[in-house]
Amino acid sequence: MLHLTLRQLKIYEAVARNLSYSRAARELHLTQPAVSMQIKLLEESLGLPLFEKLGKKIYLTEAGREMYRYSRAIAEQLVEAELVLAELKGMERGNLKISVASTANYFATQLLASFRQTHPQITLNLDVTNREALLGQLDQNEIDLAIMGQPPDGHDLIAESFMENPLVVIAAPDNPLAGQKNIPISRLAEETLIVREEGSGTRSASERFFQSHQIAPLTGLVMNTNEAIKQSVQAGMGLAVVSLHTVSLELETKRLALLDVAFFPIQRYWFIVHRKNKRLSATAQAFRQFLLDEGKAKKAF
Ligand code: PGA
Repeated sequence: MLHLTLRQLKIYEAVARNLSYSRAARELHLTQPAVSMQIKLLEESLGLPLFEKLGKKIYLTEAGREMYRYSRAIAEQLVEAELVLAELKGMERGNLKISVASTANYFATQLLASFRQTHPQITLNLDVTNREALLGQLDQNEIDLAIMGQPPDGHDLIAESFMENPLVVIAAPDNPLAGQKNIPISRLAEETLIVREEGSGTRSASERFFQSHQIAPLTGLVMNTNEAIKQSVQAGMGLAVVSLHTVSLELETKRLALLDVAFFPIQRYWFIVHRKNKRLSATAQAFRQFLLDEGKAKKAF
């Protein structure tokens, strides 16, 4: 059994994260000598150096890196324990940290709004980002829940599908293909496609789809928001494959046209995702259940 105190661990986590004794001291409202002393005691009791100094900078040793991983995990567990105990005491703080894929934001805010009507006491932190960034946030345990396309294996996640996410081909209404029936998929190889940035789930799903049909459309135009893509398609710069959720308004007002291309829509699903070993707060549980019920109510499947 290691002889160390939680205080030492907390100080170590701060120094290792900041790679600076002085920044850690400021963060913890301690003096720098107090911080150095605790690290020295910790190194002594572990029998290994945790930092090495090169010039003015400090770096983690291999033992330091291992210790950092454990100290972060322990700190996260303590926060979780605090939350659980607060809930048990009936003082549920109702703090929900949720991240949604930028494409999911078109419906997620509405769902959050109706959830909040029945849970007005909750504090909501919403982050909107792309699929790759979401996976990073889940890996780092920075969020409670994510709404995204199916996550890949190997991230220790629980993913439950709750709604369909059809990907469709859009064009400017005056595009000659608009209104044509059953356009062969090979026709897309003659068109310029405006695509999302690397890391977007929409992009990787369409790439996989085109590969499986052995089609290679021209993809010289890359944009990192659905809004920019829609504007560019409207302006006649090319076609795009987007989630139907992002274009309902433009289709209704006829600012964009849906193309009837063979094998489309690409059928994807939206998932509510959390880390496998995460103990969800009562609020996070309630929101997860709310999404699953909403999905069923909409008869999405
Ligand atoms: P995105 O959508 O394209 O906004 O990253 C997420 C997904 O479809 O997985």
